[in-house]
Amino acid sequence: MADNIRTLAAQYFQLVDPPHLSLPPDNVLLRPEVQTALYEHMFDESLTPLPPTTYRTRILKLLIARLENAIKDPEEDEILDDLMSCWGTLLAQPKPSAIEAAQQLSHVKYTAPLQTQSATNSTQPQSSSPSESAERTVITVESRGVILSGGTTGNRTWEAALHLGSFLASPAGKDLVHGKRVIELGAGTGFISLLCARHLGVHSVVATDREPVLIENMKECVRLNSESSAKDSVSASTDTGRIPMYPAIWDWGTPLQKTDDMSPLGEDEALRFDVALGADLIYDSDLVPLLLSTVRDLFENYGVKQFIIAATLRNEDTFNTFLRGCETNEFKAEHLPFESTSTEEQTGFFHSTSIPIRTYRISRP
Ligand SMILES: C[S@@+](CC[C@H](N)C(=O)[O-])C[C@H]1O[C@@H](n2cnc3c(N)ncnc32)[C@H](O)[C@@H]1O
Repeated sequence: MADNIRTLAAQYFQLVDPPHLSLPPDNVLLRPEVQTALYEHMFDESLTPLPPTTYRTRILKLLIARLENAIKDPEEDEILDDLMSCWGTLLAQPKPSAIEAAQQLSHVKYTAPLQTQSATNSTQPQSSSPSESAERTVITVESRGVILSGGTTGNRTWEAALHLGSFLASPAGKDLVHGKRVIELGAGTGFISLLCARHLGVHSVVATDREPVLIENMKECVRLNSESSAKDSVSASTDTGRIPMYPAIWDWGTPLQKTDDMSPLGEDEALRFDVALGADLIYDSDLVPLLLSTVRDLFENYGVKQFIIAATLRNEDTFNTFLRGCETNEFKAEHLPFESTSTEEQTGFFHSTSIPIRTYRISRP
């Protein structure tokens, strides 16, 4: 698949807003082979998981308008029959209201950024070129348009998680978690844990959040990603095809409990970890002391050696409260040198970079 169609398809399955899609120029879209690729990689009904009807309709409408605009010679140029018949099918389907559509839970497929040949300073084997590497995808179930619902902000995947995912999917990031026992704090949709379990070769990842509804949702995502991984024999993570991810309720400040699902981890090892991960957990200065005491708890009682956290710097004061708290607790806070790729140049895990996002490694000297 040509790079421009690959990027567009990856954005489409991530339900990226139409103004932010990387659309090829109209004259390129009109080429028969490009229209065939659009149909086969985006609109063929056999693709799974398909984006919601409302979103598919919006995108196909946009593409058809661009194609019509590009037609110069009606005798020669035409819109592919398969695209037009898909358009007819979509128009005939009932649509939810705009509010219902925004709140609807959808399957969202995230595609990891392509790895470049220069990214070779890793102990893990790498593919020799992007085109040879299989796509690394993660499926979540979430409401992309919802910021706060049912008292939690965890119903959608946040920019800091996509940034942290981009880092972890890089050779240097993968080295931090490969073969390790990982725990994620405030996992929300479970995006980071799913990535670790499905593609980064972790020994295991316990994905925690305080919201039971999010934990149930993550269990469904473990099932979906295990099935999808089993279909893709290259990335099948275990002999059974089940990805090694264990969602568990954990409200910071309380003891973490072993769940029945964790039995494959062993009696003594289930609650021992090497690395903790967290994305977008520093958004309220009132939460910072509890977060820091939880990090201390992880170091002292759960074997954790380092905590990798990505933070969106919405409020410098809140973030500085966290850094000062690290000093008070005698934690070492290292800013990891991973910069966001500009939105125009992103090839996967697409996210806004309008507010800076930083990644830190917290450890005890
Ligand atoms: C902004 S969301 C981030 C979700 C996810 N990490 C991401 O970046 O997409 C914050 C998450 O932290 C969880 N959270 C907040 N306070 C918590 C606490 N005291 N104990 C456990 N989880 C908590 C919330 O339920 C929510 O899922």
